[in-house]
Amino acid sequence: MSVKIIGTGSALPQKEITNEDLAQLVETSDEWVRERTGIGSRHISTGETVVSLAVRACEKALENAGKTASEVEMLLVATCTPERGIPCAACQVQSQLGAADAVAFDLNAACAGFLFALHTAWAYIEAGIYENALIAGSEVLSKIIDWTDRGTCVLFGDGAGAVLLERSNMPGILGFVQHSDGTKGEVLKCDSRQLKNPYISEPINFPYVQMDGREVFAFAVRQVPACITETLQKVQLTPGDVDLFVLHQANKRIIEGISKRLSVEMEKFPMNLDRVGNMSSAAIPVLLDELNREGRLREGMTLVLSGFGAGLTYGACALRW
Ligand code: UT7
Repeated sequence: MSVKIIGTGSALPQKEITNEDLAQLVETSDEWVRERTGIGSRHISTGETVVSLAVRACEKALENAGKTASEVEMLLVATCTPERGIPCAACQVQSQLGAADAVAFDLNAACAGFLFALHTAWAYIEAGIYENALIAGSEVLSKIIDWTDRGTCVLFGDGAGAVLLERSNMPGILGFVQHSDGTKGEVLKCDSRQLKNPYISEPINFPYVQMDGREVFAFAVRQVPACITETLQKVQLTPGDVDLFVLHQANKRIIEGISKRLSVEMEKFPMNLDRVGNMSSAAIPVLLDELNREGRLREGMTLVLSGFGAGLTYGACALRW
């Protein structure tokens, strides 16, 4: 028995914003952004929400798997930008999809959120509690971006991706690792609503992303290859056995650094960040869906997924397609 991805889907907001468009807002240039990050454009919401994007991505994943919403037993939404504190995004998605029999809840592990949700769903299915799980990574990061900060506003995009996981007799998820280091939380943060009541003075709140880019960069290039190696050792594979590394899309130079440390050629690291930027928890499932629809994922291929970001959180998963 294994747990296998049997369908993928994704959804992006309609509006595309180029680096040139951003150069109208802040002092930047297409040349700087492309050279330092690999990003050329990104999709930005003009009304789409974490819920509406997740619903579209989930519908496509169900269609791709040949399943209906009423068959879904578990529905997880990984997000750090929900529209509402309560109810959770997953319950809103459940209602709009018509997945009446699914248990639904959110999970926030920032850019590693989708991966951690995948592992959570794996555990429920492996334990025999559910037969399947629909997992979405959905973000509208544009609402937590400081659009006057050139150090962050050029990096992020909005979107959603989803996969359907199911118990299977075919090989699927082989093994994974996940790590958190809360002591480094200050290097990438965004305040939420803070304590405010008649008994305290006005709180200081900055509900926009603040990032020490160099620290995050160094962390990713150091820890991601290490956790990929740890995962592969666990399942008795080597980097050379892997067909594709589907990594969180934060920066082309981070991916190049990881490829170098693993001594694996860049051709095995597909990228879409030039068109979509960094979509946090949506990055991995959107890229996976694009690869799936382009016919680049063949049955039996070995993939490694790896996510990393605020928390700090990071992890990797080895699987057979
Ligand atoms: O999902 C995980 C979350 N985030 C990440 O993975 C991001 C990781 N970090 C990075 O990708 C990179 O650190 C950045 C792309 C954010 C920044 O690149 P960098 O090469 O580390 O640049 P820097 O922060 O060291 O800044 C170099 C210079 C600075 O100017 P001075 O002080 O040297 O005069 C910045 O002010 O580049 C300047 N700069 C910009 N210039 C033009 C920073 N942002 C921009 C910009 N356009 N958008």
